[in-house]
Amino acid sequence: MEFFNTKISGSGKFNPEKIMTNEDLTKMVDTSDEWIVQRTGIKERRIADLDKGEYPSGMAYYAAKDAIEKAGLEPNDIDMILFSITLPDMLFPSTASQLQDKLGITTHCACLDINAACTGWVYGLTLGNSLIQTGAYKNVLVVGTEMTSAFNNWEDRNSCILFGDGSGAVVLSRAEATEECAIVDSVLSCDSSKADTLILYKGGSKAPITHEVLNNKEQYVTMDGQVVFKNAVKTMAKHCATLLKRNNLTTNDIDWFIPHQANLRIIETTAKLLNYPMEKVICNVEKYANTSSASIPIALTEAINDGRIKRGQTLLFAAFGAGLTSGAVLIKF
Ligand code: ACO
Repeated sequence: MEFFNTKISGSGKFNPEKIMTNEDLTKMVDTSDEWIVQRTGIKERRIADLDKGEYPSGMAYYAAKDAIEKAGLEPNDIDMILFSITLPDMLFPSTASQLQDKLGITTHCACLDINAACTGWVYGLTLGNSLIQTGAYKNVLVVGTEMTSAFNNWEDRNSCILFGDGSGAVVLSRAEATEECAIVDSVLSCDSSKADTLILYKGGSKAPITHEVLNNKEQYVTMDGQVVFKNAVKTMAKHCATLLKRNNLTTNDIDWFIPHQANLRIIETTAKLLNYPMEKVICNVEKYANTSSASIPIALTEAINDGRIKRGQTLLFAAFGAGLTSGAVLIKF
């Protein structure tokens, strides 16, 4: 059986126009700009506007269109859409199928949503790579889009300061034999024993929305921040070390590390555990906060667009999120 390499042929992003600063948050909960910046590095975040169609598939349309154009393709060239989303447009049909419609795809392009929370886009990259490697598909659109403002409890200062909305997308394409690009290796995991440390309990089939749920504000996310923090740095560093070791690389071989933009302290601690210099970490959490599974493709697109990331470079992605899921991907860009 013939195997093919995968390249990122195009990438795009969308950030809603509406900015919510830390100062704005001080009018909603008992917090301060100083506390938020010191604990998270976040200065502001973007908030989706439903009246402008900025729900998940609406935001993803702009990121995906950008990615497809940068890849030099037409929407109908996409064989499959893998859509990472935590709180979808609607429970069904999939948000991927909503995006297919918005993009005007008229072929039998397959559509699938992935829910691995903040790690979802890294899961999608790994699955998309497998589909291209085996020759099943030539072009797979991998989207990470989140409307965290919809599950944020704006009265809970422990969590509402952390999140923002946005979308990022890449097109994965079959690389030519002459190209050096590849998704070299990846590792994915989930530790469900800690699932209740980052969870949205109510609103699914097991516990539908009732007046009582709404009164108790149980339709929103709850989080044990310190457990999540410790688990995040430990698993991201472990997965990155695994990828380096089994590919006979050191941190010196990595041109850019692009971790999930959860917060600056998590990013700095992970880089420190890996003994990797912060100058080579792509970081934009101060502008967008934690956009969950959209954060890596947004950061990647920014760094490609401003010329930091160039063809031929070696990139390392790492993410973690509710589940508790975690993963890392090594790329020759
Ligand atoms: N403003 C002011 N004070 C606050 C705030 C706030 N927004 N939030 C909490 N505090 C208070 C607490 O009440 C506590 O007060 P007390 O000492 O009087 O009890 C004090 O600040 C310290 O609280 P801690 O929870 O101990 O603060 P910590 O240093 O752990 O920082 C934080 C909290 C930022 C949430 C940290 O734990 C963290 O970064 N965790 C990871 C969270 C995360 O990234 N989650 C999402 C990841 S998964 C995904 O991306 C979906």
